Amino acid sequence: MRRFLVTGGCGFIGSNFIRRCLHADPDLSIVNLDLLTYAGNPENLADLDTHPRYRFVRGDIADPAQVRAAAGRDTPDALLNFAAESHVDRSLADAAPFVRTNILGTQVLLDFAKERGIPRYLQVSTDEVYGSLGPTGAFTETTPLAPTSPYAASKAGADLLVLAFGKSFGLPVIITRASNNYGPYQFPEKLIPLMISNAIEDRPLPVYGDGLHVRDWLHVDDHADGILAALERGRPGEVYNIGGGNELPNLTVVRSLLAAVGKPESLIRFVTDRPAHDRRYALDASKARRELGWAPEVAFAEGLSRTVAWYRDHHEWWARVKSGAYREYYARQYGAALASETGACPT
Ligand code: NAD
Ligand code: DAU
Repeated sequence: MRRFLVTGGCGFIGSNFIRRCLHADPDLSIVNLDLLTYAGNPENLADLDTHPRYRFVRGDIADPAQVRAAAGRDTPDALLNFAAESHVDRSLADAAPFVRTNILGTQVLLDFAKERGIPRYLQVSTDEVYGSLGPTGAFTETTPLAPTSPYAASKAGADLLVLAFGKSFGLPVIITRASNNYGPYQFPEKLIPLMISNAIEDRPLPVYGDGLHVRDWLHVDDHADGILAALERGRPGEVYNIGGGNELPNLTVVRSLLAAVGKPESLIRFVTDRPAHDRRYALDASKARRELGWAPEVAFAEGLSRTVAWYRDHHEWWARVKSGAYREYYARQYGAALASETGACPT
């Protein structure tokens, strides 16, 4: 039986990864260590509550004792770190939890992996560490790191630590850097679930700036498969870009999802831009294709339509998530912006 220690498995990508891997591999068991921050939701894995090969432990990756306790006495075959503070806008409001979890937490996990001689450490990272692109070209794994937000800087810091542990101590580390994910169970602070849920409720859709910033969309199932491929076939010390190959301006995405929900474009509101808003991301994932035999399989139109259907069918899930503290966040993040919307409309 292979044993994985997964961190951050109650979030969006971690929960999809755990479900997919456990169903695909009958010889795999997973311990999921998650602090259950605002973004961590045990409901995301409620179907696995009584699964014999799954165990949830509530705890903090930045606390060495809690990490040791979660792992127990058996050394896992792999440690996969999904745990993070993950939202750019929140990092602009307060960088402290980003530095703590994303950098200090990663260091604690690396020390633990070194102490226990864990045979594989996989860091789930992001294309945001590369900064912003002009109208052409794509990030490769050798593109210099040039993060612009506190979130991206904390992820870049973590990546450098991971690579340093590989070089200094021979720790068998691998980093995956993925583009923007979408799919079921994504917290409705991120563009696609925010816009789908607002559209269903006939609320305004706040588009930053001119709406022509480009993101490279990756279905979360494709991301999960890329992470597993990197874990199983990646070379220690290497970085692998996992990109969806679906470059689209935000406005196109928003218009497509409005069409899928069946709501009018008059719901769109252009609001003040995000500070230092990266203009364009695009990932060259040819190394992952070549070395891992991985390629994305979900076409964006199909993935978006499945995602819209999921949010329609899981109204209770996101209605609960959008109550309570979320309302305060929404008012802070969008209250003034929606009141002073720019109304600017690109051609
Ligand atoms: P998420 O915010 O949905 O989930 C993060 C999870 O980490 C939550 O369950 C939270 O409770 C947990 N967590 C936070 N702090 C913790 C701590 N100190 N100890 C233990 N658990 C803690 O994030 P996500 O979108 O699923 O992203 C997962 C990973 O993938 C992150 O590392 C992120 O940087 C990376 N990533 C995300 C995307 C994307 O588009 N969402 C793309 C590329 C890479
Ligand atoms: O590229 C990978 C990254 O993708 C991950 O590392 C991050 O964890 C994840 O949050 C995501 O970062 P982005 O900042 O690209 O995602 P977000 O969903 O916040 O925004 C996507 C685009 O949509 C971005 O150009 C900003 C814009 N946007 C976002 C929100 C929330 C809006 O126009 N309006 C909004 O209300």
